[in-house]
Amino acid sequence: MRHLITTDDLSTKEIEALFADAETYLLKPPPKLLQNRLIITLFFENSTRTRSSFEIAAKKLGADVVHLDVGRSSTKKGETLYDTAANLNAMGPDAIIVRHAQSGTPHQISRHVDCAIFNAGDGAHAHPSQALLDLFTIRKHFKNDIEGKKIAIVGDIKNSRVANSNMRLLPRFGLEITLVAPPHFMPKTDFPFTHKIEDILDDVDIIMSLRTQTERHATPIYASLKDYASDYCITKERIAERDILLLHPGPVHRNIDIDDEMLADPRCKVLEQVKNGVAVRMAALKKLILANG
Ligand code: NCD
Repeated sequence: MRHLITTDDLSTKEIEALFADAETYLLKPPPKLLQNRLIITLFFENSTRTRSSFEIAAKKLGADVVHLDVGRSSTKKGETLYDTAANLNAMGPDAIIVRHAQSGTPHQISRHVDCAIFNAGDGAHAHPSQALLDLFTIRKHFKNDIEGKKIAIVGDIKNSRVANSNMRLLPRFGLEITLVAPPHFMPKTDFPFTHKIEDILDDVDIIMSLRTQTERHATPIYASLKDYASDYCITKERIAERDILLLHPGPVHRNIDIDDEMLADPRCKVLEQVKNGVAVRMAALKKLILANG
């Protein structure tokens, strides 16, 4: 049974093939390859983009989509997560798309079901479909010429599953990562890092800005996000006329992560990421569901 729990679940060759599919889905409506297939979305954490993106992707491929309203489900009545998963599994879905605040939950669930589990974000651990769409957006922008391109990941890296998945995935495709964050947002890794954004501006091709994950902080770290912004916000003043591709997984803290001017700037591809995300998720759903038979 194939799952997408981390980006390591796909080989580099499979990712290339998935991106080729995604490219065609962007150009013309695909055949209904998942007709009569059932996909369940199970979100224990809030989501704006990821849930709707997966649902739209599934529907575009002709699948039936059911959303389990976790707030009203029996998990609230004391049913364990695994019993919930086993019961959903008994309804015969082809895939369950799971988001949970606890790292490792999608992996645990995958051991209790016989359908594909797609990790839509687990704690600070992984968000594989986001990293795939980020890489796809980068490749598209640079017309596949990404070997040796330099990317700075800026913000609350330590608490970001998006950063975590990108730190696994991007080096596989030859991208060079530098981490930019204040000390308390900096994870321990082997990547080069700096606490000062000014250090990297003349040297990077791509900036990936991240949201401060306030919900994952035990105690408030920045008394005011404005203090964080004065050091790390991606502003027009900082970036000036440099040729830098600007990404953000959303939701953006406007004028904290990226300022109004840069959000409206053509170098900022946040909405392009959202658009590409549907195509990449279509390709991932097709790949794994059809592989599972
Ligand atoms: C992210 C998430 O939920 O992990 N958003 C997303 O899925 N696009 C990032 C975030 O919440 O900051």
